[in-house]
Amino acid sequence: MTKHMGLNRRTFMQNAGLTALAGAAGTLATAAPHADAQESMSASESYPRLSNGKYDFDRVYNRVNTNCSRWDSPPRNYPNGEFQYGMGVASMDFECAPCITEALQERIKHHNWGYMSSTQSVTEAIVRWTGDRHGVDIGVEELTLSDGVYPGVIAALRAFVPQHEKIIVTTPAYNGFYTMAEQANVQIVDSQMKRVNGRFEFDFDDLEAKMTPDVRVMLLCNPQNPTGNVWTEDELMRLGKLCLEKNVIVVSDEIHCDIIRSGQKLVPFASLPDQAVVNNSVIVTAVSKTFNLAGMKIAHYYSKNPILLARVNAYHRAEVSTLGAAATEAAYTHGADWFDQANAYMDSTHTMVEEYITAKMPSVVYTRNEGTFMTFLDFSKVLQAIDAEGQAVAHGKQSAEHYFQDWLVYNSGVYLNPGSTYGMGGEGHMRLNIASSKAVIKDVLDAIALATNKVV
Ligand SMILES: Cc1ncc(COP(=O)(O)O)c(C=O)c1O
Repeated sequence: MTKHMGLNRRTFMQNAGLTALAGAAGTLATAAPHADAQESMSASESYPRLSNGKYDFDRVYNRVNTNCSRWDSPPRNYPNGEFQYGMGVASMDFECAPCITEALQERIKHHNWGYMSSTQSVTEAIVRWTGDRHGVDIGVEELTLSDGVYPGVIAALRAFVPQHEKIIVTTPAYNGFYTMAEQANVQIVDSQMKRVNGRFEFDFDDLEAKMTPDVRVMLLCNPQNPTGNVWTEDELMRLGKLCLEKNVIVVSDEIHCDIIRSGQKLVPFASLPDQAVVNNSVIVTAVSKTFNLAGMKIAHYYSKNPILLARVNAYHRAEVSTLGAAATEAAYTHGADWFDQANAYMDSTHTMVEEYITAKMPSVVYTRNEGTFMTFLDFSKVLQAIDAEGQAVAHGKQSAEHYFQDWLVYNSGVYLNPGSTYGMGGEGHMRLNIASSKAVIKDVLDAIALATNKVV
């Protein structure tokens, strides 16, 4: 591949990613083995609070060589060192809230790891957070802990959808939905969203037409990954009523529920002002995006309808780990200030990305997102300019976007997720995760601009 593109790491260094390279050899977190960032902050240092009570999200917290999927997985596909920046996987690069580390440190003082006696306090912490943040009152009996959103959704699909029957998703949608459907042995139907003034919106005519009697579940993503939509009450009510009418149960994945841009407001599905609509749903969510705890393997689902909840429970078996429970309880009980600051930081990073693209990447189309730390960038013009479609065929790549993924790594060092993995409507797009220090994001944008502005 490198050869076909006429680039190797050496020419990349000489021609393409000068700023990125400066980052690699400077203070930024990159995959370069000699990056100074690796000395910039060791894991044992305590997190600095600035004097004005602000956490320092500008300070790079290097994750390279920590067996982390975002930075340590892609280089396996680019063994000659072309990979520099992991902007694909949806985890944050920030050091976690100090209250979490402190709670874990406290627990590891006791050196016995036998079965836990109760998860009541973590469940209560989840209930409090959901009430305080989102105005949804959940009884502890309405909630089940899980070890991930995947297991919760898969259990719901097994409970509600006879094998080989169907679920519907509005696309572009989180690519994990396709894996969940496969694991639950059900078919997935894409309902491609419409673009209205750049914004992705549900296509209700298409949804209605595709909700045939063998479609049993609407797998909703709120906020929507990768498009960043935070669905409004009107949109959710219309969707909820359509699902009721068509006998389709709503499984709402709300894992990104806390990461909401300023000026936007999350409407949890369970808060909708129609009890019949709410009672037709199960909500699956987690602490993991809010506090970057994906590796702790803890999540939960809840329903206002005890019958639906019992049906999912019958297909679900998961237990949470002692450390996952300790981390979650600490995060939800003491982490609000850290999270609010992280969210505000990411909000300003989104604005920075938007302004940068408008000013310096004329070929890339960006629609201001409403939530999540994802941006879904339209690189169609660049793909066209490099004939990604034809090149994908020539090189046996899964899609034009997969070819472009490699092209971008070889030409800029930046690794993004291909839009085609998110179902219909993702063509031409790439997903970029902005949950990093602004200095890293700035280098990433410079590197992408340098590469793409050369070809279009
Ligand atoms: C919408 C959505 N659902 C689920 C997941 C994965 O959840 P978990 O790791 O808890 O299984 C992700 C991860 O990025 C996601 O974006």
